[in-house]
Amino acid sequence: MLAAGETDPYELLQFYLDAGADEAIGDEAIDRMQLAEVMAFVQPGAQEQAGQGKPPLPSLGNLAAAPVNPNAPVGTLEAMGDARALAEGAQTLEELKAALDGFKGMSLKRTATQMVFADGNPKARVMLVGEAPGADEDRLGRPFVGVSGQLLDKMFAAIDLSREETIYISNVINWRPPGNRSPSDAEIALSLPFIRRHIELVNPAVVVFVGGVAAKALLETTQGITRLRGKWTDYTSAGLEKPVPALCMFHPAYLLRSPGQKGLAWQDLLRLKKKLQEMGEVYN
Ligand code: URA
Repeated sequence: MLAAGETDPYELLQFYLDAGADEAIGDEAIDRMQLAEVMAFVQPGAQEQAGQGKPPLPSLGNLAAAPVNPNAPVGTLEAMGDARALAEGAQTLEELKAALDGFKGMSLKRTATQMVFADGNPKARVMLVGEAPGADEDRLGRPFVGVSGQLLDKMFAAIDLSREETIYISNVINWRPPGNRSPSDAEIALSLPFIRRHIELVNPAVVVFVGGVAAKALLETTQGITRLRGKWTDYTSAGLEKPVPALCMFHPAYLLRSPGQKGLAWQDLLRLKKKLQEMGEVYN
């Protein structure tokens, strides 16, 4: 029985459903200040500048490599410090997976079903890096197993590459962002040490960044995927013996929405095939 003036909870729920809020993403409110804290941590001086307006966003590259700000909130310092130390300490893929599993600084863990680490052949010479798991990946614990993953498999099968033998796949982010929202800059910054180490440990002949989020984060650029795709560039990181040729491609989810761009994706696949042949990688 409702008292006068009280709202019927069922009516309220129906109101949310009608408004499109049909997914519960967690019991706790999201701490929107977390991003500002990460910025303050990785960009010394940001807090002082905050008094003069919004601090400028540093590039993603700066986020991963910038020196520690001793004035940053304790939790943030620990999260970034932990991410770097855990990732750098991993000497094998198993250790990296365990390090990610034990990493406490990623709030996405609380809403995701499970971690999505990688799929395919870890000895493959081609490594693909996507953005973040979606609902299917979250359910099955493997990257690119939903509709866009099926397109990805078909695209690579067209140049005789498969996750069973010749490709290895991971994502920048290892847990599904709730409701499939885009990962935040803070989440990307906290994930970068892990995906960088992941690439170092696989040490592929060629790396393919699938979609703009992966391309921008790992190449430390603000350029969009339309400009980045189709060109070879060197991917470097401290633990790699030498730079790895990197190719950026459209994300299959984008190709599903914009099938007119499939021709460009096909050109990129042919570029990849040619490069592998030139490099003398075992190839049909
Ligand atoms: N999109 C991605 O970027 N990665 C996945 O694993 C699935 C969809």
